[in-house]
Parts: sequence; structure tokens; C-alpha cells
Amino acid sequence: MSLKITPQIVLSLSLVGVGMAGVGAVAFADGWDPNSKASNVGSIANTRHNLTLQYNKDAGGAGIVMDFARNDYGEVCVYCHTPHGANKQINAPLWNRTINNVSNYTVYDTPTTIGLEGRLGVPGPNSLTCLSCHDGTIAIDSVLNMPGSGGYGNTEVGTSNLAFLDQWPDNGRPGTSGNHFTLGPELGNGDIGSACALCHSAPNSVIPDFRLFMLGTDLRNDHVIGITFPTTFGPGIDYNEPEISVPGKWAFFDSNGSGFAEKYEVRLYDSGSGPAVECASCHDPHGIPSNGAGTEFIPSFLRISNSTPNDNGIGGPSGLCLTCHAK
Ligand code: HEC
Ligand code: HEC
Ligand code: HEC
Ligand code: HEC
Ligand code: HEC
Repeated sequence: MSLKITPQIVLSLSLVGVGMAGVGAVAFADGWDPNSKASNVGSIANTRHNLTLQYNKDAGGAGIVMDFARNDYGEVCVYCHTPHGANKQINAPLWNRTINNVSNYTVYDTPTTIGLEGRLGVPGPNSLTCLSCHDGTIAIDSVLNMPGSGGYGNTEVGTSNLAFLDQWPDNGRPGTSGNHFTLGPELGNGDIGSACALCHSAPNSVIPDFRLFMLGTDLRNDHVIGITFPTTFGPGIDYNEPEISVPGKWAFFDSNGSGFAEKYEVRLYDSGSGPAVECASCHDPHGIPSNGAGTEFIPSFLRISNSTPNDNGIGGPSGLCLTCHAK
């Protein structure tokens, strides 16, 4: 078996307290990439989830290089959301992207915790959103509704309709013909001819290495998702009980007792079979301030820091993991 450095391995290592020394490629495991031009302060516009890469262009960088690899829609939100004509195949907020078919994923199949057998499932809506870029099968610019153009016609489920994406009329913003790149196959291994991995896959002082963020469609080496959380707690169940449960919507750890699911609180999404762990249980793709408004976001778009408490005292050493795991 070859050792692949994946979030799952990083997570497992951090849980048992093994240091990361010696795993050179994971130099920025807990912190933003030092090569990043993203300030990660204030808004998603200042993060790597701004696919217009405007911050990168404004900062005098070579962000313009990417204009041949994806349409620059000129707006941050549109790569993921649309006010009209959203994807009807997924229960996610005004979702503007093509999504992958759940049957294309290989999921975790070895539950280790008593009581969780039979609770394995496929990725739910709150994971399919992220996977629509991070599994490397769908073009980064594969939206259903291009801004201002009135254009509809992309597929809702499956691979991108490239001919539709070619119709982006530019509108003063660069478009590309034929080159609608995907992020890249798992860890950048495989055909990267039409993937962001073409450039973003080698140690380089100018081009950030994104290989760790390419999860692929085999999710067995990533933290389990789609699994229904325990609903009984106590002896033999190593999990904490979420304070608030709203059947059919979600359950959440109401750390500050407000009765409201703050963005910096871990949640379990219920898409029909009970509250489940999904990508967005741990991550908020818009970024969460680390210590109150105006402070740098917690690295890796995490909701809770595993090292430093926020201004509400939430987080700290293994804070994210210990929200769910009673260890
Ligand atoms: C031809 C090579 C090339 C390709 C292909 C490419 N990039 Fe880049 N990318 C670069 C370079 C060079 C930089 C650094 C620019 C700078 O520092 O100003 C960069 C920077 C970035 C950044 C900013 C990183 C940061 O934190 O400052 C993001 C995000 C990014 N690229 C996303 C993408 C995406 C998404 C794709 C695929 C649609 C892609 N890139 C394809 C060359 C490329
Ligand atoms: C990279 C993709 C991406 C981008 C870009 C993005 N969002 Fe989101 N957004 C999401 C996802 C995924 C969710 C669902 C989160 C979940 O599963 O709970 C979401 C949820 C939301 C919600 C629902 C409440 C919440 O926070 O969960 C609002 C409102 C929202 N986004 C607004 C915006 C706005 C405004 C912008 C642009 C400034 C934006 N988003 C850009 C991915 C994105
Ligand atoms: C529109 C495509 C898209 C969607 C949707 C998307 N991402 Fe990303 N994400 C990217 C790109 C492009 C990058 C920048 C390249 C990179 O760092 O991998 C990125 C970067 C990241 C990073 C690394 C940030 C860093 O540099 O430390 C994390 C973590 C992440 N995304 C998580 C998520 C999660 C979780 C979701 C869903 C809630 C999500 N993404 C949805 C495209 C997307
Ligand atoms: C149980 C919590 C949890 C879940 C669920 C989860 N992640 Fe993460 N993810 C993390 C943590 C913690 C890190 C930071 C690891 C580190 O410091 O290297 C991370 C890192 C990442 C990264 C950056 C690569 C890295 O290793 O730093 C990406 C991209 C990412 N996650 C995407 C996803 C996507 C997509 C999903 C759903 C398929 C997902 N995550 C589900 C906790 C989670
Ligand atoms: C949202 C709740 C939640 C959070 C947060 C969470 N976990 Fe988990 N974790 C689970 C569930 C549910 C399982 C599935 C248990 C099983 O294997 O039966 C699990 C399984 C695991 C496993 C066993 C995987 C295997 O292959 O058997 C490890 C290791 C793990 N988590 C580590 C972590 C670490 C490290 C963190 C923090 C970065 C974390 N978890 C955060 C809910 C969570």
C-alpha cells in the first residue's frame, strides 16, 4: 500500500498527537500557504474561493494567467450561487453548479465505532457542493446561469456542457474557448492536461501547490462524510450529543447556548436519514474570522480552530475534533 498524504492521514496523525515533521509536502498543514496573495480577511472575496482571482490580479500578481483556464465571470458568488435558475437536483442554497452523481463516489466502508454500523451513506447535498470542484471531475467555471448573459443550458448532474460554457460573451471579462479546467485528479495524479493541476502541482515559489486539495472521487482516505451520527449517547458511544436537533434540517453543537447555529458551530445535516457528517459540518466555504470581525480567517475554511479559541472561547487544541469525538 502506498502512503498518500491526505486530509484523513493528517487528521489521524493529529488525533494521536504525532507531529508532522518529516512529511515535507504538508508544510502548511495548519496555516494558509505562505505563497498565497489572499489576505483571508473580511470576505470570501479575499480568499482562494474567489475564482475571479481579482485579489490576485489587484495584488500585482500573475492572476491573469488563469484567464485561459476558466471563464472570469467577474463576480465572486456566481461560481457557486445564482438568484434564479438554481440547480433543482440538490438541496443547497441557490446552487449554480453542475454536481456529480453520487454513484460516482467510492465511500468509506469500514465503520470502527460500535453503533454506527448501518449508518453509512452517500455524500449528502452539503458535501456534493464542495465535491463539485474538489473531486476534479467538473470544470471550475461549470455554472448553470452565467451572469448577465441570460444563458442557461448547462447540465445539472454529470460532466460540464463545455459548448455551453464556451458561449460566455466576455462582457469585458475574459472568457476562454475549450479550456474549462477541472481542479485536477486526486493529489494531481493522472491526466492533468486540462486541469488546474497542470501548473498547480509542483513545489514552486510562484505557483502555489494545490495537490492536497484535490480529493478525487475515492473518499475512503478522507474524513468520513455522509455517515449518520449516533442518536443515543452514553457508555460505549464515544460521541458528544449535539445540544439542538431540528429533524429534517440539522443538529448542531450550540457551544454558546444561543439556540442559533452560529457559523462557528459544528452542525450535522439531515437530508432524510438523520443528522450526518458532511463537508460543511467542519468547513464554511466563506471563511470564519479566527478572533472576531476583521481578523484573519481560520485556516482551511474551518468553522472551529484546532489550535486557538475564537473571541467566544470556542476552539483550542483539537477543538474541532473534540466537538464530536468524546476522547
Ligand atoms: C498556466 C499555469 C496555470 C494554470 C493552468 C492555472 N493556474 Fe492558478 N496560478 C498560476 C500562477 C502563475 C499563479 C500565481 C499568480 C501570482 O502569484 O500572482 C496562480 C495563482 C492561483 C491562485 C491564487 C493563489 C493564491 O493564494 O494567491 C488561485 C486560487 C489559482 N491560481 C486558481 C487556479 C484555478 C482554479 C485554475 C484552474 C481553473 C488555475 N489556477 C490554473 C498559474 C496557473
Ligand atoms: C466556492 C463556492 C461558494 C462561493 C464562491 C460562495 N458560496 Fe455561499 N455557500 C456555498 C456553500 C457550499 C454553501 C452551503 C453551506 C452549507 O452546506 O451549509 C453556501 C451557503 C451560503 C448561504 C446560506 C447561509 C450559509 O452561510 O450557509 C449564503 C447566504 C451564501 N452562501 C451567500 C454567498 C454570497 C453572498 C457569496 C458571494 C459573496 C457566496 N455565498 C459565495 C458556497 C459558496
Ligand atoms: C467553485 C469551485 C469550488 C467549490 C464549490 C469549493 N471549492 Fe474549495 N477551493 C476551490 C479552489 C479553486 C481552491 C483553491 C485552490 C486550492 O487551494 O485548492 C479551493 C481551496 C479550498 C481549500 C484550501 C484553502 C487553503 O488554501 O487552505 C479548502 C479547505 C476548501 N477549498 C474547502 C472547500 C469546501 C469544504 C467546500 C464546500 C463547502 C469547497 N471548498 C467548495 C474551489 C472550490
Ligand atoms: C470532520 C471534519 C471534516 C470534514 C467532515 C471534512 N473536512 Fe476537510 N479538513 C478538515 C480539517 C481539520 C482540515 C485541515 C487539515 C490540516 O490542517 O491539514 C481539512 C482540510 C481540507 C482541505 C485542505 C487540504 C488540507 O489537507 O489542508 C480541503 C480541500 C478539504 N478539507 C475539503 C474537504 C471536503 C471537500 C470535504 C467533504 C468531502 C471535507 N473537507 C470534509 C476537517 C474536515
Ligand atoms: C461533525 C462530527 C465530527 C467531527 C467534527 C470530527 N469527527 Fe471524526 N468521526 C465522526 C464520525 C461520525 C466518525 C465515524 C465513526 C466510525 O468510524 O464508525 C468519525 C471517524 C473518525 C475516525 C475513524 C476513521 C476510521 O477510518 O475509522 C478518525 C480517526 C477521526 N474521526 C478523526 C477525527 C479528527 C482528527 C477530527 C478533527 C480534525 C474529527 N475526527 C472531527 C465525526 C466527527
